[in-house]
Amino acid sequence: MIQVTDLHAEYVRGAVTFVATSRPRLTWRTLTTTPNWTQASAELRVTRSDGHSENHRVSGADSVLVSWPFTPLAVRERVTAAVRVIGADGAISGWATPITLEAASLDPGSWHADLVAHPDPEENLRPVQFIRDFAVHDGLVAARLRTSAHGVYQAEINSAVVSDDVLAPGWTSYDERLLVQTADVTALLRAGANRLAATVAAGWFGESFGFLGHAKRAYAGPLSYLAQLELDYTDGTTDVIATDADWLATRSGPIVQSGIYAGERHDARLETVGWSSVGVPLPDLMPVTVIALDREVLAPATSEPVRRIETMAPVQSFLTPTGRRVLDFGQNIAGRVRIEVTGAAGDVVTLRHAEVLDVDGELALRPLRLAKATDEYTLAGNEREVWEPLFTFHGFRYVQVDGWPGGADPIDDLTAVVCHSDMSRTGSWSSSHPQLNRLHENVLWSMRGNFLSIPSDCPQRDERLGWTGDFQLFAPTASFLYDVRGFSASWLADLAIEQRQCDGITPLVIPSVLPPFPDPIAGWGDASTVVPWTMYERYGDRGILNGQYPSMRAWVEAELGRTNSALLWLHGGQIGDHLDPTAPPDRPTEAKTSPAIVACAYLIRSLRIVADAALTLGLHDDAAHYAESAETARAAFEHYFVTPGGRIISDAPTAYALAIAFDLVTEPVKRAALGERLAEIVRENGFRIGTGFIGTPVLVEALIATGHLHTASNLLLQTRAPSWLYAVTMGATTVWERWDSLLPDGSVNPGEMTSFNHYALGAVADTLHRRVAGLAPGAPGYSLLDVAPQPLPGLTSAAATIDTPYGRAQVGWSIENDVLALQVEVPANTGADVTLPGSAEVFRVGSGRHDFSCPAPSERAVLGPVDIRGTDLATLIDDAEALGVIVQALAVRDPARSASLLTDTQWKRGAYLTDVLMFAGPEVLADVERALEDLNRNRGARSDMQ
Ligand code: BGC
Repeated sequence: MIQVTDLHAEYVRGAVTFVATSRPRLTWRTLTTTPNWTQASAELRVTRSDGHSENHRVSGADSVLVSWPFTPLAVRERVTAAVRVIGADGAISGWATPITLEAASLDPGSWHADLVAHPDPEENLRPVQFIRDFAVHDGLVAARLRTSAHGVYQAEINSAVVSDDVLAPGWTSYDERLLVQTADVTALLRAGANRLAATVAAGWFGESFGFLGHAKRAYAGPLSYLAQLELDYTDGTTDVIATDADWLATRSGPIVQSGIYAGERHDARLETVGWSSVGVPLPDLMPVTVIALDREVLAPATSEPVRRIETMAPVQSFLTPTGRRVLDFGQNIAGRVRIEVTGAAGDVVTLRHAEVLDVDGELALRPLRLAKATDEYTLAGNEREVWEPLFTFHGFRYVQVDGWPGGADPIDDLTAVVCHSDMSRTGSWSSSHPQLNRLHENVLWSMRGNFLSIPSDCPQRDERLGWTGDFQLFAPTASFLYDVRGFSASWLADLAIEQRQCDGITPLVIPSVLPPFPDPIAGWGDASTVVPWTMYERYGDRGILNGQYPSMRAWVEAELGRTNSALLWLHGGQIGDHLDPTAPPDRPTEAKTSPAIVACAYLIRSLRIVADAALTLGLHDDAAHYAESAETARAAFEHYFVTPGGRIISDAPTAYALAIAFDLVTEPVKRAALGERLAEIVRENGFRIGTGFIGTPVLVEALIATGHLHTASNLLLQTRAPSWLYAVTMGATTVWERWDSLLPDGSVNPGEMTSFNHYALGAVADTLHRRVAGLAPGAPGYSLLDVAPQPLPGLTSAAATIDTPYGRAQVGWSIENDVLALQVEVPANTGADVTLPGSAEVFRVGSGRHDFSCPAPSERAVLGPVDIRGTDLATLIDDAEALGVIVQALAVRDPARSASLLTDTQWKRGAYLTDVLMFAGPEVLADVERALEDLNRNRGARSDMQ
């Protein structure tokens, strides 16, 4: 049985797909029960609008983003496409369910619409309503609406909302690239009089963006709307209704204020029932002002729109100590709250949003900085009023409700609406460790909270910007959890535009709304190379690589412009290992690792990526040139920063982790020495985290790569701060920006930048997917899987699943009775290289299910006796039971010392508990010694029993 499924064009799926190009690439998957199945060829068929079909045969195994072999799609031409495949065994599948396609791109000459605005001087946070009544004749065949705005908009026709998009047209570099949404609106029109209408609010275009007092408007001009409705008739003619001087506008609608940071205020008393129906009069209508638009900036949307993805009911409702009503949704999300309310006209309900409660039991609003995050609804006094703000979103778990009519508990009347870009979910991960599973769930939720039109740092405070560094670090994780091809391609297009305007220096945030920074910033600007390469690696998308190549190249050239003759990048402003936990809360860049190490390491990584990209694209001269530069820079790095014995100048975990994970030191003995030292530092720090944004994603990776699985496990499963699981033990439902955004006493960290929804530190999930479960791409797009699980001590199972471009791949291992069983599911038309733990042998397998088993890696040795003078601290930190006994014994007479033992000790080799307890009184020491004697006796008895 062979079946072709999931046929789609470019990045978007749907009943009728408006694709961004007239030559859409096609992707399909094959399902089959035949093992080792590969595609020998495929037959593509396109049926044009006049009914005639064209066929094309693709020979070979290509099934991902296959070039359009037919005549390009004409404007407004609608075609259906289908595919069937022929296996290497000669068996032929049936035809896939055909898809309907239409090119959304329009050349500038086919545009008749201009932007229209309210004629009054600007008053940005008050949305504008636009209307145009028009006639439709008999014989309408098809109608498509192309719309956009300077601002965010919702279009309506005859009282029906045109699409379920939220905050369209999304956020792009508006001055250069304004996205147009295309919709089939045939069903919304009728012969006779009709009304086309839209509300436009400030959104990202009109609000002042930025933070710490630097907020300003990034885009000039009034809120304005763009629409082109094309009506095709049976007689072959097309009527166009476009935004022009015939439109009317009013600023007297019910939304009296709307902003992304500010929130939305809606006065239902100002609603005009059926306002978008023809003939319904609106107050204060005025002829619009027409604003000429450079139509070159109009671009069809390539990615999925933001939508309402899920709704959630509150899990509890309570009164705070000051008597405020607060509802808890149990999950930190990005989105907004829908209310259903009954009351008198003029009653005002206010909703304030927050991610956490502070120790005083009230909403913690300080982390929001200047974002008001407040929605307000004034009742019209109707029977039952349902309201959800339209043009804002908040990052929140708690909502404070003020002014609820009648003062009753509104727990049954509020619903949280989760909003984000509607990408397809692809990957999942689980293990035998519940807290680790919760961490993974938190990573997923932080992705959901921050993939709202752009990849943002956080969804709650006066920031929500497309920080390049954050996405660079998280892109591998993101592209496992969701299909982020379209989303990333769109953001990268803006990155390339904004970078061009800054002479090759990629701005810190995209779209670029912060004052320009004179220096390239390592780890942030490298989004220019890392993100497109990740898309190629995870989806096999050469198109993104091809489109971004000039930007990738320009970025490394900007970096090279700052290096010395040895290709070391030692000077210039850097962010470095942002938010190293030992940096003072108000000076987040003061990390232990020298920013020059971060800069040089990223330069080498980007040079290698550009060399690899050039090779992939057949640019052989560039490939050789950048590969050589990368090797020169690497050798210089080693010479300058690494000692012959295997230490790095900064002697901090981020420095070692980068050197190992980025392969900066190739000589095996030296590399092993770096691994030893990294493991030692992590151990000395009591298996707590000592890395910031840059080091954290590669830390566990580097420990595993150098064989320190116990250390990796102790670090990953640590619950004392700073650690990944500390936040989990504190009840986190998303990943925090700081390791201790919430301090152990439950109070909010006093530093600036205390978001509770930042995905960067969650980038460790990529290691969970690729290394711990063992499901990694072995060739672009997972056309080959690299299955090499690393069962970490402390876990008895782990599993990962991903819908690759070829189909579902699955890896799962579990340990029982000292035997490790591994199952691997390989999609049709691909293969896998499987390496079992502890072995170097590689098994190459084809598609289908495969089972393996091998002896389980040995668990930790049975713990022996502990001696206050003879067991060194490096050994002791591994012994949770003994540590517990010591902490308890200390607590009897010296609670302060007991409390600080675990947090303040450097767990060094060759140092002993007696050194740490040097100033403890003799009775205290005697208590500890007695407690350890008891422990040793119990251990002896236990081992006798075995
Ligand atoms: C953002 C970060 C960002 C950093 C860089 C912060 O304000 O929230 O995520 O990468 O600044 O300085």
